[in-house]
Amino acid sequence: MITCRGTALMTIMILVSVNEGRSIPDPYQRELMLQEEASQQVGGRVELSAAEQRLDSFLRKLKEQEMVASPFPPAMHFFRAKPHIQKSPVFKVLQKMPKGAVLHVHSSALASVDWLVMNVTYRPHCYICFTWSGSVKFLFSTQRPFPQWGCSSWSLLEQLRATISDIPAFDKSLMRNLTLWTEDPDVAYPNQDTVWERFEQTFIAISGLISYAPVFKDYLYQGLQQLYDDNILYLELRAGLSMTYMLDGRVRDREWSLQTYKNITEQFRLEHPDFIGIRIIVTVHRELSLSQVKQTISDTIELQKRYPEIIAGFDLVGREDTGKSIWYFREALSVPTEVKANLSYFFHAGETDLDGTDVDRNVLDALLFNTTRIGHGFALAHHPLAKELSRKRGVPLEVCPISNQVLKLVSDLRNHPAAVLMSEGHPMVVSSDDPTLFGTTGLSYDFYEAFVGIGGLSANVGTLKELALNSIRYSSLSAAVKNKATAIWKQKWDKFILENS
Ligand SMILES: *[C@@H]1O[C@H](CO)[C@@H](O)[C@H](O)[C@H]1NC(C)=O
Ligand SMILES: *[C@@H]1O[C@H](CO)[C@@H](O)[C@H](O)[C@H]1NC(C)=O
Ligand SMILES: *[C@@H]1O[C@H](CO)[C@@H](O)[C@H](O)[C@H]1NC(C)=O
Ligand SMILES: *[C@@H]1O[C@H](CO)[C@@H](O)[C@H](O)[C@H]1NC(C)=O
Ligand SMILES: *[C@@H]1O[C@H](CO)[C@@H](O)[C@H](O)[C@H]1NC(C)=O
Ligand SMILES: [Zn+2]
Repeated sequence: MITCRGTALMTIMILVSVNEGRSIPDPYQRELMLQEEASQQVGGRVELSAAEQRLDSFLRKLKEQEMVASPFPPAMHFFRAKPHIQKSPVFKVLQKMPKGAVLHVHSSALASVDWLVMNVTYRPHCYICFTWSGSVKFLFSTQRPFPQWGCSSWSLLEQLRATISDIPAFDKSLMRNLTLWTEDPDVAYPNQDTVWERFEQTFIAISGLISYAPVFKDYLYQGLQQLYDDNILYLELRAGLSMTYMLDGRVRDREWSLQTYKNITEQFRLEHPDFIGIRIIVTVHRELSLSQVKQTISDTIELQKRYPEIIAGFDLVGREDTGKSIWYFREALSVPTEVKANLSYFFHAGETDLDGTDVDRNVLDALLFNTTRIGHGFALAHHPLAKELSRKRGVPLEVCPISNQVLKLVSDLRNHPAAVLMSEGHPMVVSSDDPTLFGTTGLSYDFYEAFVGIGGLSANVGTLKELALNSIRYSSLSAAVKNKATAIWKQKWDKFILENS
């Protein structure tokens, strides 16, 4: 690849020297340069079949129309853009496209908010209380739970709904409690602090529903179904492996959660044999202490020995700007090497615009700790050395466009730093981070933003193909399973091309 690029550049340089002294640059040379540049982008060297080229011309035409139309969805906040995206012909093609794997999603934000409200909150024994800060909490219980500080007394939802005249409006308000959705996001969230505060609060509201053991199982199944329906064949899930509770107040431990992940996935695979499965990246909040993180790492090493097929590795979660840095946890993160365990890291790093601060060093530190992928890496473009390491070692970025926009790192997605990285062919995958909170399911919305907004008119079918294949290539699956996943994907891709070209 390097040799190939070198030769092309040399040809161009020779032509430039031959051309000296003429006033109009040589069109042939210009064409060569354009081709050379296009070949460097993500998917720039993918050979397209005749049918793929037909789809490419079709998509290009659609994209051109979308770019001159007003409004242009990637330039708007996703909450306003969503109804326009749903009408987009490009989006409809992306929905049908086999997208490979989702490598960056959190377990508390996997299934759609509609399902949480319309199915889970309608189950018996569901109690609700209203917090002083305008949010809600839920708890399943046989008896009315004890009041909690900062919350109204608990009401049984079934009884409460019986007293409400406009139930659809009430259910809508619950959906708003479980997402960040609002009519006017710029007014509701004037800065990153306000949006992150709501973000963390929303996870608390969701947790009472999904950590109820019977719901936890159905929730996982539902989450897999929604991914499958969006043409995704494998999931790498970041999960805190927290405890779950039962109606009588007893709790199930982390191992139960892990077994449930395994069992539900097996059940899902029985019913959907072309789904590959899931693996778990165990997460811990970066607000915890050094000793707590150290303990979780030791526990994860033990769990991985017993469940090697399902545990993929470890990550730190929570807001980087206000949390502790990777370097702060260096002693804990060195434990696996010290005990000669193979615990892979999948760090969130560089989800920040605080250029030059301690937080901003996380991307380099993630690489120093041999991270397998970089979650977000929004700040990577500012770090030439980290960028080079990431590229040379094949450590991809997990680009989550909608998440970065909603959490206020970028407003117009054409200006996302991944646009530069995409044009340079930097290793990357597209992911969704927290679909529940952003009011989405699956990956098609993020693919739309990446393909139309970040990629612009340069991104083509080769780009889509490489992004999908990257999601399998850069997963934690074994070489044998990657081959199997790629074969399944290829078959679906060929069918997709046949039906859409
Ligand atoms: C919720 O969904 C499950 C299937 O996951 C179904 O069996 C159940 O009847 C639904 N419950 C309600 C209240 O809609
Ligand atoms: C949460 O739901 C309650 C009850 O319907 C509602 O009063 C409140 O405004 C909602 N909060 C948000 C942030 O939408
Ligand atoms: C998972 O399945 C195994 C084997 O069928 C069973 O022994 C175990 O109890 C199940 N665990 C959970 C948490 O469902
Ligand atoms: C770690 O991985 C290496 C190479 O893949 C392997 O040789 C070694 O046995 C593994 N160690 C443990 C403790 O699993
Ligand atoms: C990272 O990998 C390099 C090369 O394999 C190794 O020398 C180094 O010890 C690793 N660092 C950590 C912190 O695991
Ligand atoms: Zn994340």
